[in-house]
Amino acid sequence: MQRVEVELGERSYPVLIGSELLGAEEAWRPFLPEGLILVISNDRVAPLYLERVMDCLPDGRSHRLVLPDGEHHKTLSTWSRVIDELVRLKASRDACVIALGGGVIGDLAGFAAASYMRGIAFIQAPTTLLAQVDASVGGKTGVNHEQGKNLIGAFHQPRAVLADVGSLTTLPEREYRAGLAEVIKYGMIGDHAFFEWLESNLAAIKGREPGSVASMVETSVRSKAQVVAADEREAGARALLNFGHSFGHALETLTDYRQYLHGEAVAIGMIVATRLSEARGLLETGVTERLGRLLSALDLPIEVPREIGAEAICDCLALDKKTLGGQTRLILLDGLGKARVDTRTSRDEMVAAVQDCQS
Ligand code: NAD
Ligand code: GLY
Repeated sequence: MQRVEVELGERSYPVLIGSELLGAEEAWRPFLPEGLILVISNDRVAPLYLERVMDCLPDGRSHRLVLPDGEHHKTLSTWSRVIDELVRLKASRDACVIALGGGVIGDLAGFAAASYMRGIAFIQAPTTLLAQVDASVGGKTGVNHEQGKNLIGAFHQPRAVLADVGSLTTLPEREYRAGLAEVIKYGMIGDHAFFEWLESNLAAIKGREPGSVASMVETSVRSKAQVVAADEREAGARALLNFGHSFGHALETLTDYRQYLHGEAVAIGMIVATRLSEARGLLETGVTERLGRLLSALDLPIEVPREIGAEAICDCLALDKKTLGGQTRLILLDGLGKARVDTRTSRDEMVAAVQDCQS
């Protein structure tokens, strides 16, 4: 088992990475509270993993709540169901919520923990690759509003993260590949050597070879933990984690969240941001092709579809949460493994880069 610390002073916590963690009582024990425990999962993950988790928890004060699966349930009304359950169980401030599932369950259960009695403890038990390498680490919690994703939320750090890489064996192929886009992102923004490692271990990664998956998750979590420790509230460096996300988010919005999984849209977004970095003269040419080869080898998309206009994408960027004072903030590259915040790109340059990436 590997252990990565997220260093945040009195709110520091460990991310444990290993196989068979969900059913290992000794992994859970140090983090369990004196009070009531509520495990929150969904109807897809619960049949696979809930019993083994419940078996590790103390009888009599451990409870479960199984919610319907899906991003469209990441709402205030589902959050209300969690709060109602905590009230019904008479949970007090020493209670703890355990989030067992992907990023949807993690964000939702985390937000319930952040808001119930102004904040109770919670533990993340992420079961998707995306949640293990990204969503479960860093304390962003929340739900969607009908006007936008993650519009309601709070920063609330977990007490621990138990990332059982064994649980990834049941993850649908498309979800696994989408998570790989976020893994590649860490290489692009801060770790050239990790990018090369990914290029050299394609077969093992595609085949979900346990040692390689554990190593890939650990390296990604170390990167994320470092960024979060330096900038918990996204006042600066944490924004670099949004590499590929502005263009990706525009693609998701313009296709009504129906065409792409988040990671797939991020894959295309990273291509556009890399192409733009080259066009701006910040980055040597050839990096976009190299990134494209890696993404394609992992069956991730790399082209902006023709039917989605470049102008529409740039209109969408202007409405992005990350836009400040009317100035679009993009994450661009100074090199493979070196990202920066940029506010100097003109709309024409953005449009041209998107057009360059169209099929
Ligand atoms: P998800 O939670 O919807 O999970 C994807 C699908 O896989 C779901 O159907 C889920 O039930 C299923 N699943 C989960 N684990 C499984 C397993 N082990 N075996 C089989 N099926 C399994 O999606 P996600 O990609 O994990 O997370 C996306 C969410 O995370 C979004 O809501 C996004 O906003 C959020 N997110 C949050 C942060 C953050 O920092 N808090 C970062 C990135 C993304
Ligand atoms: N997923 C981006 C962040 O945690 O900041």
